[in-house]
Amino acid sequence: MPSVYVPENQPDQPESTTDAETTPLVFPPLTHQRLENCSFSSWYPAFRSFSIKSKIIPLSEDFVSYLNADKVFIPGQSGISLALSDDDDSDDDDQISDMEKFKALQEATHRQAQESDSDSEDEDEDEEAALPYFPELEDEIARTIAEYGGEVFPKLNWSSPRDASWIATTNTLKCHNAADIFLLLKSSDFIAHDLTHAYEDCSDESGEAGSGIRGRPEKVELILRKWFDLAPSMEFRCFVRDNKLIGISQRDMTFYDFLKDIREELEEKIVDFFEERIQGKFPDPDYTFDVYITRNRERIYLIDFNPFAQKTDSLLFQWEELLTSLERLPLRLLPSEEAGRHMQQPFAFNRYPSDVTDLSNGQTVAEFAEAFYKKVQASAV
Ligand SMILES: Nc1ncnc2c1ncn2[C@@H]1O[C@H](COP(=O)(O)OP(=O)(O)O)[C@@H](O)[C@H]1O
Ligand SMILES: [Mg+2]
Repeated sequence: MPSVYVPENQPDQPESTTDAETTPLVFPPLTHQRLENCSFSSWYPAFRSFSIKSKIIPLSEDFVSYLNADKVFIPGQSGISLALSDDDDSDDDDQISDMEKFKALQEATHRQAQESDSDSEDEDEDEEAALPYFPELEDEIARTIAEYGGEVFPKLNWSSPRDASWIATTNTLKCHNAADIFLLLKSSDFIAHDLTHAYEDCSDESGEAGSGIRGRPEKVELILRKWFDLAPSMEFRCFVRDNKLIGISQRDMTFYDFLKDIREELEEKIVDFFEERIQGKFPDPDYTFDVYITRNRERIYLIDFNPFAQKTDSLLFQWEELLTSLERLPLRLLPSEEAGRHMQQPFAFNRYPSDVTDLSNGQTVAEFAEAFYKKVQASAV
């Protein structure tokens, strides 16, 4: 759990859990529909003109099973070799031959799996033999990446694999090819949560015959957003209750000294943006939304919507304040470096599929891909 930051000018915030236990916080009910309204493909069409360019790619059931499986094989029509070729000085011929070797191997194992499928009942063995093979998806990803200038940010219906960025060469979610994307998706608990636990806090029935809480989203979608070099200091989360903006918090839990000097301007810009672009246009009265203000402070982009619910990070607010306040609270910024230290939220304690950790061992994507490629070669002998 993130540590709770109590602003200095707000003494006597409840610190112990005892208060919270005696007076439980009452959130607006989180229904399936409310959660659905925050999924990317629900909100993006209406707000796209001031959000970041994005493609919504529906994922096949086969790919969803691949994401859910423990194995971490990265399909690699183009991915593996490109992941290996991060280094600008590397030899082009080697890259091509790596790619072709991998592709041939992948197609061979795919054929082999199909053949043994037809004459063997042993499903486990077939699963061992089959390397994932998603050529159409990989093509669509490659086309989108090319259209977006070579770099994209991936997420699923609600979440990005932020907890897995440690595995990437750049330590960010910047992806250049399908292998980068698949590796991040497979290494992330946030993605696993979207796939299997997204609805678990819902308070209503799903409306589907014979079911209570929905298990997984009906449509799983890969979202590819054009990569945008965001300055984390200029990201803000806004809390809306009863269609009123009641709180704005800095999103990155780092102290930025310069923010206090532009506090009023930031607040004014965000309030105007809310009133012009968001208020009354989102289907629910209670929600949160994230914005980015460009460094020159001329433009605001909408980044994401999240439910007004405990599972959404309330950042520098406590939910109790947001649930009880009738007026808009002042923009909340970290007041000092010291306060920032209490708010760091490394994802160090997240769990990863064991074969990712075994193979990856803290390596970059390129190193991981190489290890993976060797493993594939070894298993093909
Ligand atoms: N298109 C993008 N390019 C680069 N970074 C991005 C992009 N979109 C989002 N980010 C970064 O990733 C973070 C998480 O994005 P977001 O869409 O809110 O995912 P989540 O819902 O998982 O938090 C943002 O705070 C921002 O810093
Ligand atoms: Mg979000």
